[in-house]
Amino acid sequence: MSTSVTLITQNEQMRSILNMLGRIIDSDGSVLLIGETGVGKEIFADYIHKTSNRSLMPFMKIGLSALPIELMESELFGHEKGSYTGAINQKKGLFELANKGSLFLDDIDDVPLNIQAKLLRVLESREFMRIGGTVPIPIDVRLISASKVSLKDLVDKGQFRRDLYYRINVIPVEIPALRDRKDDIVLLAEHFIHRYAPEREIKISEQAAGALVSYPWPGNIRELRNVIQRTVIFCNGEINIENLPPEISNLHSLNTVVKACLNCWLKNGMSYTQIVQCLENTLIKEALQKTDGNQSEAARVLGLSLSTFRDKMKKSTPGSDPNGNQCCEKP
Ligand SMILES: Nc1ncnc2c1ncn2[C@@H]1O[C@H](COP(=O)(O)OP(=O)(O)OP(=O)(O)O)[C@@H](O)[C@H]1O
Ligand SMILES: [Mg+2]
Repeated sequence: MSTSVTLITQNEQMRSILNMLGRIIDSDGSVLLIGETGVGKEIFADYIHKTSNRSLMPFMKIGLSALPIELMESELFGHEKGSYTGAINQKKGLFELANKGSLFLDDIDDVPLNIQAKLLRVLESREFMRIGGTVPIPIDVRLISASKVSLKDLVDKGQFRRDLYYRINVIPVEIPALRDRKDDIVLLAEHFIHRYAPEREIKISEQAAGALVSYPWPGNIRELRNVIQRTVIFCNGEINIENLPPEISNLHSLNTVVKACLNCWLKNGMSYTQIVQCLENTLIKEALQKTDGNQSEAARVLGLSLSTFRDKMKKSTPGSDPNGNQCCEKP
């Protein structure tokens, strides 16, 4: 069975990853996908299987986090009837079920060292035995693994076998976080609007698009998908800034605070007053930017009266570091 996978992107880095994959797609080399949560590791695995010459053969997947060791072993390699208490029937493992196709090992970083040793043996000998079995079964499987953390770091810490790392990492693919490919944010948002409200014409206002692009998306594309799914229910014809969840529309977000002082404070060891000045300057500037210079609107989003807002604007001075160098502008 082969259904197509919709992998949306216009980002140059993503495109070069896809180009690279296009060149090695039929090579059978093991692929290691690394990326934060929600970044698209599974959709990449689907894409790799479905565009390869194995696409008509089985594609098996297993999430290896939080699986007890015995279960992990029997899921991967299967078992013979009676091989342990509870093994009432013979069971084929995923390596066997994925024969001639692909096998996706998600969260490979959670595999304990003893199973890592077994995996390595299987990958090197290209055959395995079911638990309790005596007959080696040859494998012809393309392996795709995924990890949220750098496996190289785990290798350096002794938590992941170096030899296995080299085996599964023939084709490394680092999927960038959504905040590092901001040009995909609105494109993906429009894709999800179309998916969740196919019969409606919903636009994204410029201000809402700005907020979506500035937000750091710790949950990456999954988070964006969920936000759009919820937002389309409550908006009419256009997604406005008020329709977005507070952590995205909110100008007081931690993100703004951190951004405000990161440059000067961390580098120059500024005083409390200087940091507060920088923070005020940045908040006012951001509010004005997001409201196209409309002071009443900017005051409203900051929760200030117009007169207080104007007063703060008038009194604000450029932030300066302890040596008197200007570090952030007057709004
Ligand atoms: N480029 C993309 N185009 C369209 N949809 C995408 C894209 N990337 C991810 N998605 C969608 O975002 C959601 C999360 O992606 P996926 O499950 O592949 O992430 P993941 O990296 O495996 O996350 P986790 O580490 O939490 O398992 C899915 O619904 C997926 O279809
Ligand atoms: Mg996943």
